[in-house]
Formats: sequence, C-alpha cells, structure tokens
Amino acid sequence: MTAAATATKAQAPLSNKAREMMEAINTDAAKHHVWIRTQANAPAQRPWFSDTSGEGQLASGRVAANQMKTLPYLWRWSEFSPYLHRISEIARKAEVSPIEFGDRQSILLLNPGLNGRLQVTNTIRCAISVYNPGDVAPVHLHSPNASRTILSDKGGYTVVEGERCTAARGDLILTPNGTWHDHGNDSSEPVIWIDMLDWPLMEFLDAAWVDHDMPGAQGNARVQAVTKSDGRSHRLYGRGGIKPAFVDHQIGVGRGPAPLIHYRGADVLETLHSLRKEQGDPHEGIKVDFVNPVTGEPVFKTLNYSAQLLRPGEETELKRETAGTFYVAIEGSGATEVGGNRFEWSQNDIFVVPNFLWRRHINTGKTDAVLYSVSDAALMSNIGQYYAQGRAKNGTITELAN
Ligand SMILES: [Fe+2]
Repeated sequence: MTAAATATKAQAPLSNKAREMMEAINTDAAKHHVWIRTQANAPAQRPWFSDTSGEGQLASGRVAANQMKTLPYLWRWSEFSPYLHRISEIARKAEVSPIEFGDRQSILLLNPGLNGRLQVTNTIRCAISVYNPGDVAPVHLHSPNASRTILSDKGGYTVVEGERCTAARGDLILTPNGTWHDHGNDSSEPVIWIDMLDWPLMEFLDAAWVDHDMPGAQGNARVQAVTKSDGRSHRLYGRGGIKPAFVDHQIGVGRGPAPLIHYRGADVLETLHSLRKEQGDPHEGIKVDFVNPVTGEPVFKTLNYSAQLLRPGEETELKRETAGTFYVAIEGSGATEVGGNRFEWSQNDIFVVPNFLWRRHINTGKTDAVLYSVSDAALMSNIGQYYAQGRAKNGTITELAN
C-alpha cells in the first residue's frame, strides 16, 4: 500500500466525523435560518457544451432542493381542444359566466417536469382561451409581458391602449407590460387563441402584479374606449425600414418603446413563402423574427417570437441553446426530435424544446410547414447567458452566434 493510500484510509473516518458534527450543528442552526454546508455544490445542469449525451440531470441533496428541469413535451390539438369545446359549452349555458369566477375560459398547459406549476418552460406560461360570442374580458394592466397567437380563422379582438386589434389566424397581438388591454368576441362563433406570458419569471422575481381599475373604464363589462382605429399601429410601423417621425413610440406605463402591437399572420405567411427559395439557416430553415420596429430588438426584453418555414423533406441540423423554446404548428406537418423523443406534429399542435437539449426539425409532409415559436433567448442574451451550438451530420460541433 502506498503512503498516499494509507493517508486516505486514515483520513476517511475523520472526514465523516467532521460531517456528522456539522450536521449536528445544523439542527440548531436551522432555528436561526442558517445552513452549514455539508455537501458540494451540485448544479442541476452538467457542463452542457461538453456533455455529449446532451441530457440534463437533476442534482440531489440540500444544495439542489426544489430544483426541477423542463421536459420535452407535445400537446396534441386532438387531445386538448375537446376541453376547450367542453368549457365553451358549459359557459354558453351558465348563469354565471366562467369569466366571472375564473377570469378566463381557458386551459393552462403544464410541463410534466415542473411539478404542476402553471408554466411550460422556466419562464413562460401558456393558456389556451376560448371566447364565446359576446364574451368580454374586462380591461386590466399587468407587469408580465403577454401575447396571443390566434388559432381561429377569424373573430375576436383585443384592445390595447385604445387601439382595437381585430384578430385572424396566425396573428400575434402583443400586450407589453404596463399596457391597458381588454379582449372580446363580437362574432357569431367561438374563437380560440393561445396566451403566452413571461409570468413565471415575474413571479420568481416577485414582480407580478395586476391592476383592474382603469380610470374611465366603461359599462358593466368595464372595457376601455376605442380611441384609435383598427390597424393604426400597423399603418405606423407595419412596413419594414420605415419609422414614423411624428409619434411617441412609447405606449402604456412600461419601460421602453413597444409600439407595434399587432403582427398579422397573413403578412408573416406571405413573407415566409416569398423567401422559400432562399437557402435559409441549416438549423432553422426559413426563419423570421418578430421585432420591435423602433429598436430592431426582440419584441420583449424577456421573450422573442419567431416564425419559420420548413420545405417538404427539409431536415434541419441539430442545435441546442441555453434558452427554452415553445412551438406552435401553424401550417403543414412534421416531426421534431429532442432529448430522445420524436414529436410528430400537425396543425395547432404545441410542443416544448427545453434548454440544453439537442433538437432538429423535419418536414414530413407534402406542403410547406410553418412553426411559430417563443423563447427566452432574449432574456438570456440580455443577461449575457445566451449560448448555442450546432452539430453537423458528420458530428462537427460549431458555436453559434444566435
Ligand atoms: Fe392580460
């Protein structure tokens, strides 16, 4: 036996004894909200950039108490939409509208890795709402940023800071933090849209708040007056590269300009299809970002929204990021491989690609496929934590700028 091995053997009981003594102190220290470290720091995430397995793993012990990891998951339209139809039917016959007691008629998606929390990634909450004809959600304002992605062909509206936005399929309507907004459906059919918010992040920061008392809100439904005609922000900012010089770009009481609130699905699809003969990005296909037209930055400091087109047979190369991404299938059909899963998706299906996991998209259909996505890459970039890698078919790994 070597001298070093002898020393190790002799020290082991001492080490355990020290640990026992410190644990004994912890019983007392807990009364004073103090914990004496008896374990190594064990983060939930291994060094992902050199971890060829690509799998995250949960740490254990006191250091990692309550850590959780987002899991890949697919919510199929065929499975979740019946719940929307059922609550719509209940609401239609109800004496007291569910909007009265539940604030909304909606279902919330729960990521199976997050222990029942109302969130789909570490930062994003997703609700899918149904509004019956005549439904109105009263005007309010909140600190989280929010958006709605419209699934119904038409019908429904949102009023943001006095501007009415009449909704149609594929539209993205923003309600930036600090903007008064109300919603409703004045058509003859129920309408469905997806609400996405950075609410979990604001809750984590203990900075989530809602104000329901807009001065001057009107009628029993407490809605705001429409003071700007439908499409005003689109007329002001809807043409890339042209910015009006005679208006204040700030709306609401949020910090920073957030002027364009209604991105039209028809414009997005027209743009994507007009670019389909471009080479595109090997990891994303033909991808466009929704940006703030004043700053050129993502629409929110915390979340960025994109749309991408995959041509029939197109297979992207593998990519992984420090950001989590939430996808909605708007057109066509395909598959996304992530973390050992293969999600076959078609129109209105929704899925999550967690941070750190390799993923790739495949268009398995005969027509172009379009995915909308929202991710916290904007947040990660703003705090200096955004990293991404690509992996080519020959296994070569490259660091990606975005
Ligand atoms: Fe809201």
